[in-house]
Amino acid sequence: MISPVTARMVDLISVLRDRIIDAELNGGVGREPWVAVEEPLQDFLRYPDLLTLEQEEPDPVRYRQHLLHADPDGRFSVVALVWMPGQATPVHDHVAWCVVGVYRGEEVEENFRVASDENGPHLVHTGVGVNGEGSVSSLYPPGDIHIVRNATSGKVISLHVYGADISARGSSIRRCYDMPIRPRS
Ligand SMILES: [Fe+2]
Repeated sequence: MISPVTARMVDLISVLRDRIIDAELNGGVGREPWVAVEEPLQDFLRYPDLLTLEQEEPDPVRYRQHLLHADPDGRFSVVALVWMPGQATPVHDHVAWCVVGVYRGEEVEENFRVASDENGPHLVHTGVGVNGEGSVSSLYPPGDIHIVRNATSGKVISLHVYGADISARGSSIRRCYDMPIRPRS
């Protein structure tokens, strides 16, 4: 169910739609929709009135998703994810491109690729980074396998723009990877 949004979020959604349509019509290498989304998303992260109080509510058991927008033409969706300390996603990839802006706190992100040898398929750790408050980062399939966690002692909130209508499927996750993880050799 889509949550009623603030006037500020209405403004952001309008800007995102304009940028994404422009990128589709006039884009190219370096001007893809996810690149076009990064700047306005980062600009709006400074506003304290982007979300309602309900949209900042966590879940005591797992990270919580609030669906804020699913564009009627299916071009994109916007969600807020709220994380309490220790909460994490599964290892997963996505159905479409994704731009993440950290609104409150900081997230730790680890990246992986799938490999296979005589012991079978497994995940190889390819990197780790901290996404701080006010930062934006992009992911686009393939090669977008990651896990995200709240490694702080407080609540973390991030805004995610996905290049698909996720209202029907419920999330942007394409597949979860329940495999052994090995360090990069
Ligand atoms: Fe993700």
